[in-house]
Amino acid sequence: MTFAGLWRDLEPLGRHPETCGYRRYSWTPADAQCRAWFTKAAEQRGLIVQPDANGNLWAWWGPPRPGAVATGSHLDSVPDGGGYDGALGVVTALAAVDLLKEKNFHPERTVVLVAFTEEEGARFGVPCLGSRLLTGAADPQTARDLTDDAGVTLAEAMTDAGLDPALIGPDPALLGGLGAFVELHVEQGRALAPLGAALGLAEGIWPHGRWRFEFGGRADHAGTARLADRRDPMLPYSGTVLAARRAAAEHGAVATFGKVIVEPNGTNAVPSAVRAWLDARAPDEATVEETVTAIRSAAAGFSEEHGITLSVRRESYTPLVRFDQDLRDRIAGVLAAAGITAPVLPTAAGHDAGALAERLPTAMLFVRNPTGVSHSPAEHADLADCEAGVRALALVLHDLAGPK
Ligand code: GLV
Ligand code: MN
Ligand code: MN
Repeated sequence: MTFAGLWRDLEPLGRHPETCGYRRYSWTPADAQCRAWFTKAAEQRGLIVQPDANGNLWAWWGPPRPGAVATGSHLDSVPDGGGYDGALGVVTALAAVDLLKEKNFHPERTVVLVAFTEEEGARFGVPCLGSRLLTGAADPQTARDLTDDAGVTLAEAMTDAGLDPALIGPDPALLGGLGAFVELHVEQGRALAPLGAALGLAEGIWPHGRWRFEFGGRADHAGTARLADRRDPMLPYSGTVLAARRAAAEHGAVATFGKVIVEPNGTNAVPSAVRAWLDARAPDEATVEETVTAIRSAAAGFSEEHGITLSVRRESYTPLVRFDQDLRDRIAGVLAAAGITAPVLPTAAGHDAGALAERLPTAMLFVRNPTGVSHSPAEHADLADCEAGVRALALVLHDLAGPK
């Protein structure tokens, strides 16, 4: 099994020495290292690597022709993310190719491995940007103008990386050549461990989105400005954080303010502005909407109370995703024939598979996460489970790309 060797080579790339979390942000040097690693590993296996215009990397086992079976995931990370989110699906895909080659398997339908770009939206704010541009779900001009926290646009970052941002956008020819997409991913949550199952299959993805809240006030002196005279945007912001927690609990949703930028960010100054991002998710779209409406209305009330201006903008939204039932049943049958039981689970995490599911039969395999912790350096999957994932993915590719 070549999984451990591939993992060892990828593991140090983009890992912060102090936090041990990953900072693999798209179009940065760490991202370039991960891309170079993928390209080399794929080429060593005789695959032909071709980036698409959106920066996603495709490694072809066989000529691009209709009905290709795609597998893979992403290599970028959230700030101080875990090593498995995304990377596991890419490494597993390469190791599954090795396993199939060891068994002298020759695909009848082309197999293509993919590493999507900017899945987390950690740098430019929109998750699954590479796959959304590919399918046409993201508008190219809006995407080009997205900025990171330093004000660098996506267009500038892509240009610096040697790509032409004028070319980003839907690629119907590439997409139309794919017959199915199967993404293997580390489990995010802890459903498999209590069931004693190493692997699971995805049923669907909760609807979710991101909203940007801007609270505008007036900078002032932390010592001399009287409380009654202040226009402090931190006050409505903090009330809104607590209101989000309450609204989520009341509606059966989850709501998180995980990113906040305070200006000017001085200990002895009342802030002039607070920019914060709400991530909200729920089992159905009406509940997401009701939860966000409650949070917005709380933010408006607190802002008025404290003399603060408020603007709220939705920056991304993913409707409910249901993965293809026939493909899932087929994969479950292949796994069952090999003695593998893979429970079917919903997930509240977003994935490129969700973007592709709108356009072609798509499925996801999950690998058990013993603690369920994710988007954290503590994210983990046991080696034996990762290797079970490789064997399962190889079985699935064998079935989908092999002789009928
Ligand atoms: C991606 O992992 C997300 O669910 O935000
Ligand atoms: Mn993630
Ligand atoms: Mn992921």
